[in-house]
Amino acid sequence: MSKVPYKIYLTEDEIPENYYNIRADMLNKPDPLLNPATKQAITKEELEAVFCSELVDQELDNTNRYIPIPEEIREIYKMYRPSPVVRAYNLEKKLNTPAKIYYKFEGNNTSGSHKLNSAIAQIYYAKKQGLKKVTTETGAGQWGTALAIACSLFDMDLEVFMVKSSYEQKPFRKNIIKVFGGEVIPSPSDTTEVGRKILAENPNTSGSLGCAISEAVEVASMDPNSRYVLGSVLNQVVLHQSIIGLESKIALEKYGEYPDIVIGCAGGGSNLGGLIAPFISDNIKGTRDSKIIAVEPASCPSLTRGKFVYDYCDTGKITPLAKMYTLGSGFIPAANHSGGLRYHGMSPIISKLYHDGYMDAVSYAQSKVFEAAIMFAKTETILPAPESAHAIRAAIDEALKCKETGEEKTILFGLTGTGYFDMLAYESYLEGTMEDYIPSDEDLKLDLVGEL
Ligand SMILES: Cc1ncc(COP(=O)(O)O)c(C=O)c1O
Repeated sequence: MSKVPYKIYLTEDEIPENYYNIRADMLNKPDPLLNPATKQAITKEELEAVFCSELVDQELDNTNRYIPIPEEIREIYKMYRPSPVVRAYNLEKKLNTPAKIYYKFEGNNTSGSHKLNSAIAQIYYAKKQGLKKVTTETGAGQWGTALAIACSLFDMDLEVFMVKSSYEQKPFRKNIIKVFGGEVIPSPSDTTEVGRKILAENPNTSGSLGCAISEAVEVASMDPNSRYVLGSVLNQVVLHQSIIGLESKIALEKYGEYPDIVIGCAGGGSNLGGLIAPFISDNIKGTRDSKIIAVEPASCPSLTRGKFVYDYCDTGKITPLAKMYTLGSGFIPAANHSGGLRYHGMSPIISKLYHDGYMDAVSYAQSKVFEAAIMFAKTETILPAPESAHAIRAAIDEALKCKETGEEKTILFGLTGTGYFDMLAYESYLEGTMEDYIPSDEDLKLDLVGEL
């Protein structure tokens, strides 16, 4: 077999023709979303008030293993896919590890992250249904940016509720969303009933994804031509992101490689769910035994310190209830530079897989994460998004363990995006002003009381 190149590229024809639905192969399916009023499994009709019909079908589909990717979506994917699997030769050298480190790089598009994969799919289906507008939330701004690009491609109106701390910390992100035609509102805002309520209770809040979701859902539910779209957590988003794992598997197979360890950062769980899907499927079938690791911030440790219970997906408690690892929908994580990982809950698919013992989870304080980000930037020359750097941290630590044991393990991690809009975060790390806030047990306990 020839030497593995730095970058393994597939051809455009090799872009998968189907999304892979991991739920079809899960022995225990994720628990259904519940209607918060009746506490019964939510029906297709109820969900269609919020999401467009084909996405509702995908949300509820626990049986079809493969969902065809419409040709129009594949054509748009060709503008930036297939994304490369890169062999991190320089990082391996720096670490002096016998491990082989690969990363799937999803930052090579204008939006700068994997979020575009699902944005294109969701807007395609919304347009097909004849809808005129979508509303959403965004934390770090990556999802809002991706959605603005997708909306401009399909000529769809967009209203984005952006977590206030990111709106203030990342003015350039907000401007990109505007360039592509999206309207951006800092959340919580006084433009919605739920926003006004949150502000009345907590006037100085810097916001959270949970608040912004409440506002976006409220606006969409007022207009029959609008629907709400979400960039993570939902089954449909994990489904769209399966393209990451499918492409990775094909690329590695070309060189006879298969990962012993697969690592992804976890905010709402979409990139992780997509990256690991084809590999965890082999684990479930018993044909392989890769170690799967979810990496989260110590300031928002849903998997490692949360509870596996039914909870609201938003702070204003207007969304359905999801059975997931959660810190409580009232939990507002401390300001952290990984806005995309500041979510109280976790995808029900990831939650179930974790609960059933199919994966491990670790958490890191942000200064350890930035240390890894800078080592990665200096060796591999890509400036990673702080969210993605969580996966880098864990990959480095696994590679260092291999150095100790002498094992030549193959590690694959998801490099979900670039960090060029996160320079204030890098600055605070470099200047030594970065703080590592880790919630106490008491902080977490208080937020769960009466929530669940
Ligand atoms: C670059 C990047 N990586 C990861 C995430 C986390 O999202 P998810 O867990 O849905 O992949 C985000 C979310 O905004 C992001 O912007």
